[in-house]
Amino acid sequence: MEEKMGWCSWGIRLLSLFAMVCTVSGIGANWGTQSTHPLPSDTVVKLLRENGIPKVKLFDANYDNLRALARSGIEVMVGIPNDMLASLANSLKAAEKWVQKNVSTHINNNVNIRYVAVGNEPFLETYNGTYVQPTLPALVNIQSALIKAGLSNQVRVTVPLNADVYASSTSLPSGGDFRTDIHELMTNIVKFLSENGGPFTVNIYPFISLYADANFPTEYAFFDGNASPLNDGGNIYYNMFDANHDTLVYALQKIGYGNLPIIVGEIGWPTDGDRNANIEYARRFNQGFMNHISGGKGTPMRPGPIDAYLFSLIDEDAKSIAPGNFERHWGIFTFDGLPKYALNLGTTNSGALVPAKGVQYLEKKWCVMSPKAKLDDPQVAPSVSYACGRADCTSLGYETSCGNLDALGNISYAFNSYYQKNNQRDEACKFPSLSMITKKDPSVGSCRFETMIQPYYAGAERRFGSLSIVSFFILILLMAL
Ligand SMILES: *[C@@H]1O[C@H](CO)[C@@H](O)[C@H](O)[C@H]1NC(C)=O
Ligand SMILES: *[C@@H]1O[C@H](CO)[C@@H](O)[C@H](O)[C@H]1NC(C)=O
Ligand SMILES: *[C@@H]1O[C@H](CO)[C@@H](O)[C@H](O)[C@H]1NC(C)=O
Repeated sequence: MEEKMGWCSWGIRLLSLFAMVCTVSGIGANWGTQSTHPLPSDTVVKLLRENGIPKVKLFDANYDNLRALARSGIEVMVGIPNDMLASLANSLKAAEKWVQKNVSTHINNNVNIRYVAVGNEPFLETYNGTYVQPTLPALVNIQSALIKAGLSNQVRVTVPLNADVYASSTSLPSGGDFRTDIHELMTNIVKFLSENGGPFTVNIYPFISLYADANFPTEYAFFDGNASPLNDGGNIYYNMFDANHDTLVYALQKIGYGNLPIIVGEIGWPTDGDRNANIEYARRFNQGFMNHISGGKGTPMRPGPIDAYLFSLIDEDAKSIAPGNFERHWGIFTFDGLPKYALNLGTTNSGALVPAKGVQYLEKKWCVMSPKAKLDDPQVAPSVSYACGRADCTSLGYETSCGNLDALGNISYAFNSYYQKNNQRDEACKFPSLSMITKKDPSVGSCRFETMIQPYYAGAERRFGSLSIVSFFILILLMAL
């Protein structure tokens, strides 16, 4: 797979000078970390490399993940979480510290950082405008800090935005314009990005359109669909992605920046937690997208290669389900690094996804409802809601992967999820006279009763290192007494 990463990443590895002149082509992936049991950083970096994924987008600047990316050649977009925007906006010194600690240090350690994402979808309407004020000043301060650190040629700033920062008044791409409440702000951000060589980063989600609007034409969400195409003054749109992307191009054109480079920061389809979130649709969408961009044809308004990051690499079981139960199921890999379906990224010799290697599991045992317990036991309902509230029951429900379980299966699923999240501790399978531990896998059909992976403590060695120094001193002290 490494040949497929091209001369460019080899160039970067051999001679960091090359990093100034080339960016790799090829599909990127989002690496999120909201998991109760994240895979070890090194395992994930190996997963990226073995799948020929040449670039990765992070949502923060997790030290261990960045350290694991050192000398991998993989291009990195590091992220600044929204809750840090205000302090970075108010203090240039804070921005300089952020760049020093979270960019310079890692670049010196051969991490190929190419972008800083300032905030993550900060103008989502659900945030009630909380991040409207600090985003641009934070962007300006981070850019100043990059210049001061001598990194502004190598590392570009951007702001990943949700696609609802723009819309079309005519429902055709040519009617595209930025949202009225943030129109002036968007104009200033775009101007700043353009002046500083930063791309416009946008997240585009046909799945969410389908989820939010029961009348959305399902076929139009896909790339091989049979929806009736949209004719926009001679430009023909066969799928929602192209139309949405070009709505942005028109919005940029209207404010005088029609040529600003665009990165698709997130694109993907979830596999569970909703009737439209399943393996078949996810495979169809993601493979369709890969095929769509592989020829470098682009969209009617932007012919040429599309720079995109799949959302996402691995499932995250600790994400908020406020947007919907599907939120924990966006990965092309399961939480333990197994491919969910056949997906040809065009980057491996076999054309298949390569699973994570060396993943350490807990024992093969599960917590289920005891056959002696009764379904109408008054403890059942509170026990299930306790377990589901603290673990993950998003695979239960109408037309989900475990939607066909009977009542007993439902209860067992909830108990097991709680038990596994708690590392199979005996106390975590003590629902009052309802539960028992079994060594027989209760999985049925598409419904997987998972066994958890070994907990991974980021930086465990380092902490252990300092711990042993402390114990050493305690020992000396004791000996002196
Ligand atoms: C560096 O990034 C981490 C992770 O996002 C954050 O917690 C930390 O505060 C940042 N460091 C500085 C000096 O801002
Ligand atoms: C946004 O505003 C609404 C109505 O004023 C309020 O109910 C909600 O809690 C707010 N959300 C956040 C994230 O502040
Ligand atoms: C199983 O649980 C789901 C989600 O809580 C519920 O919708 C479904 O009706 C349950 N099935 C049975 C047979 O109890």
